[in-house]
Amino acid sequence: MLSSLRSGTKSLWRFSSRALQTTSNLQHDSLFVHRDTPEDNPGIKFEFTRENQKRADALLSIYPEGHKRAAMIPLLDLAQRQHGGWLPISAMHKVAEILNLPRMRVYEVATFYTMFIRKPIGKYHIQICTTTPCWLRGSDAVLQAIKEAAGVEVGGTSACGKFSLSEVECLGACVNAPMVQVNDDYFEDLSVEDTKEIIEKLKKDEKPLAGPRSGRFASEPLGGLTSLSEEPKGPGFGLQDALK
Ligand code: FES
Repeated sequence: MLSSLRSGTKSLWRFSSRALQTTSNLQHDSLFVHRDTPEDNPGIKFEFTRENQKRADALLSIYPEGHKRAAMIPLLDLAQRQHGGWLPISAMHKVAEILNLPRMRVYEVATFYTMFIRKPIGKYHIQICTTTPCWLRGSDAVLQAIKEAAGVEVGGTSACGKFSLSEVECLGACVNAPMVQVNDDYFEDLSVEDTKEIIEKLKKDEKPLAGPRSGRFASEPLGGLTSLSEEPKGPGFGLQDALK
């Protein structure tokens, strides 16, 4: 009895040891749990400005009656833009009120998408992609350059209040790796020098040149076209004579 119990425990241990996870979970650098703070609590009133109210009405008019809740993400985005790039809880309550939804429905969305920032943020939100294609193309060096030039750590805001830095997963510009997103702009095919130049311009509130820094227009091959490089042959090309 005892030996069968022991062997049962052993096999259970073998089973559970295989199921153990040995690598750490990747997590976002922000905590998506609300804590009342002096700058973010339900007592602070949030109203859309007159211009943004017009934008909100235009957004709502896109969606048919009974489906207005589909405007939730655009409305939260509008609120975030109005509020200096981050989303206070009172703005979420306003959106819930506009959409006539329980507040929880809005919390669920605002805390799921990393595009919604839940704490005060710098004027320039730098998001660096360190997923495999960007990493293979030197995102570690770009990240280091950002930290040094902007004086900011991942998940933090610089002492001057201008820069906040997030390390993110693929931003969909892998062909132009390594890349960073600053507010709404993508900066691609970056070298360490490009990165430093971008930060220096932002320090002076100048607008750095967005897009690829390699001389490419978009994501075409660097060494010239490899397809569609000659006149199209036209209909019937390559067909057997019998089918022409
Ligand atoms: S891996 Fe960096 S943009 Fe896709």
